[in-house]
Amino acid sequence: MSIDYKEFISQVKRKTNIDLSLYKEAQMKRRLTSLYEKKGYTSFQEYFQSMNANSDILHEFLDRMTINVSEFYRNKQRWDVLENKIFPRLLAERKSLKIWSAASSTGEEPYTIAMVLSKYIPLSSISILATDLDSNAIEKAKIGIYPERSLNEVPVEMKKKYFTLEGTYYRVSDEIKKTVTFKQHNLLADSFESNFDLIVCRNVLIYFTEEAKDLLYHKFNSALRTGGTLFVGSTEQIFNPQSYNFTIEDTFFYKKM
Ligand SMILES: C[S@@+](CC[C@H](N)C(=O)[O-])C[C@H]1O[C@@H](n2cnc3c(N)ncnc32)[C@H](O)[C@@H]1O
Repeated sequence: MSIDYKEFISQVKRKTNIDLSLYKEAQMKRRLTSLYEKKGYTSFQEYFQSMNANSDILHEFLDRMTINVSEFYRNKQRWDVLENKIFPRLLAERKSLKIWSAASSTGEEPYTIAMVLSKYIPLSSISILATDLDSNAIEKAKIGIYPERSLNEVPVEMKKKYFTLEGTYYRVSDEIKKTVTFKQHNLLADSFESNFDLIVCRNVLIYFTEEAKDLLYHKFNSALRTGGTLFVGSTEQIFNPQSYNFTIEDTFFYKKM
């Protein structure tokens, strides 16, 4: 690792408590280098000085390093498995479920969980914790207004029931919004709650180093109750689930042993 980037990592850690050394280096460096070069800086050092002095530049950096892309029912077939296999089992074991959408970005994921679960229990008895590192994403999630492309995979009946069209945007209903509590949380630094029935953590682990992922699989396992399930993204298969005390419940679903 270059001294320039290494030094930048420790400066950013001191300033924001975000540890870039736990993110895949080549990818993160490429994203940030292309950003600072566009702005006319020639090194991470120069970039940090400016970030340190100007909060707009800091926010732009945070925006760049957190990749917020999301959509409702992302990888729809996986949500069908959640609906038809995982939720029926979990609800047979417990009447009320403790659910966490970790790295929930702009809210599409926790709102999808609520829609899927609403097929089984009333919305008024659903409560989902949703967390993300990026407070801007959380603010957008709370507003709950989305472009049409985020809704491509939403089943027609859900779209009718839980969205209203405003111009070219869709607003998610208040009854869905009320099921979710958003909090700012850093997966790589903050402590986890426990006794979850379901943890959904998708499309963020791909950005982390193997070492960070390894630690997180252990922490997710501890945060679940026995028999609880971890639902990961469709490129994030765990290759040795047993070593984290998980069994494969379905592709991309891991049940705590
Ligand atoms: C690509 S989005 C995934 C959103 C959603 N889970 C999905 O699958 O559609 C990745 C999210 O991870 C968040 N993130 C990145 N690093 C994080 C960290 N250390 N702790 C918590 N969230 C983080 C980003 O802010 C971003 O919102």
